[in-house]
Amino acid sequence: MLQTEFISTGMYVPERVVTNHELEGYMDTSDEWIRQRSGIEERHWAAEDEGGSDMAKVATERALEAAGMEADEIDCIVLATISPDHFFPGTGVFLQRKLGVKNIPCLDIRNQCTGFLYGLEVADAFIKVGKYRRVLLVGTEVHSSGITLSTEGRDTAVLFGDGAGVAILGPTEDQDRGVLAVRTHADGRHAEKLWAPAPACIKKPFVTTEMIDEGLTRPHMDGRDVFKHAITKMPAALYEVLELAGCSLEDLAMVIPHQANLRISQAVAKGLGLADDKMYSNIQRYGNTTAASIPLALHECVSEGRIQRGDLVGFTAFGSGFTWGGAVVRW
Ligand code: UT7
Repeated sequence: MLQTEFISTGMYVPERVVTNHELEGYMDTSDEWIRQRSGIEERHWAAEDEGGSDMAKVATERALEAAGMEADEIDCIVLATISPDHFFPGTGVFLQRKLGVKNIPCLDIRNQCTGFLYGLEVADAFIKVGKYRRVLLVGTEVHSSGITLSTEGRDTAVLFGDGAGVAILGPTEDQDRGVLAVRTHADGRHAEKLWAPAPACIKKPFVTTEMIDEGLTRPHMDGRDVFKHAITKMPAALYEVLELAGCSLEDLAMVIPHQANLRISQAVAKGLGLADDKMYSNIQRYGNTTAASIPLALHECVSEGRIQRGDLVGFTAFGSGFTWGGAVVRW
């Protein structure tokens, strides 16, 4: 039986840094409100014409270099995003083209903040059965083009940021290494609690100027309800995978949660009885980057030496759908 190991990671965030003070110029908000409610201090915004595939390309080149691999050694791309370059085709094929790789499958995953863990579950299954040997797993988001920079859109505009994180995954025969457990969940009864109602192929036509004027193309969120579910589902997801892996919370060297809100991470850590230095947070610098947030945080932990080979790492995420999940990885 093969296990899936992380060969290398990479990340990229756009050059432009947008502080909370800059946002004060666009809408009725304040640095104090944003910091207190979310922990966010700044985020990065992509340049004009810079898409999720462009950012993922740079992150992938960095991961390839770290692995000592060439792009043509990748035999499958699994890409998670809720902010695709185009309505169709998926962003994976644009990334494939930019990497100069031909004739490999490119699978786009649309599971929002849990996208990276859904992607990990799929990639893990591909590798375990011996179908692919080198899977490029990507989380990439350009939120800055979908937010509304006015007081109407302030409840979500201040939260989201742009960036890309990737991991190159491959097989190992070491049974106590790599992905020990990964499990994802969904509950569509809550779909409208965090969603973008348009564009919508359920309507004819799928987008109108009225939809745009009414703000239907921007994210809508019942923040309090999402918060409430996040702080219960994220620890439950972590406990579930720990049990599947036959490990306990005390065995974890680091927990990497989806970065939705510093208060959510702190509440989850408190509920788990986890020391602050075991719960990684970088939302202060990037905001909520949805599918990119876990691989961005993972790459930082690995490159800063916070995660060493042999360490047990926990992942947990919750987001729109609702979707949630967890994973336990022996690094
Ligand atoms: O990644 C996917 C999952 N997403 C999440 O997990 C997000 C979960 N939710 C949250 O993180 C929090 O609910 C928020 C950070 C979104 C909001 O924090 P909150 O403490 O729940 O605030 P609230 O939504 O209850 O709003 C409080 C007040 C409201 O004013 P009133 O009605 O009390 O007068 C809002 O209109 O804050 C107002 N408000 C703002 N004020 C200044 C909302 N957005 C802003 C803003 N600046 N940007």
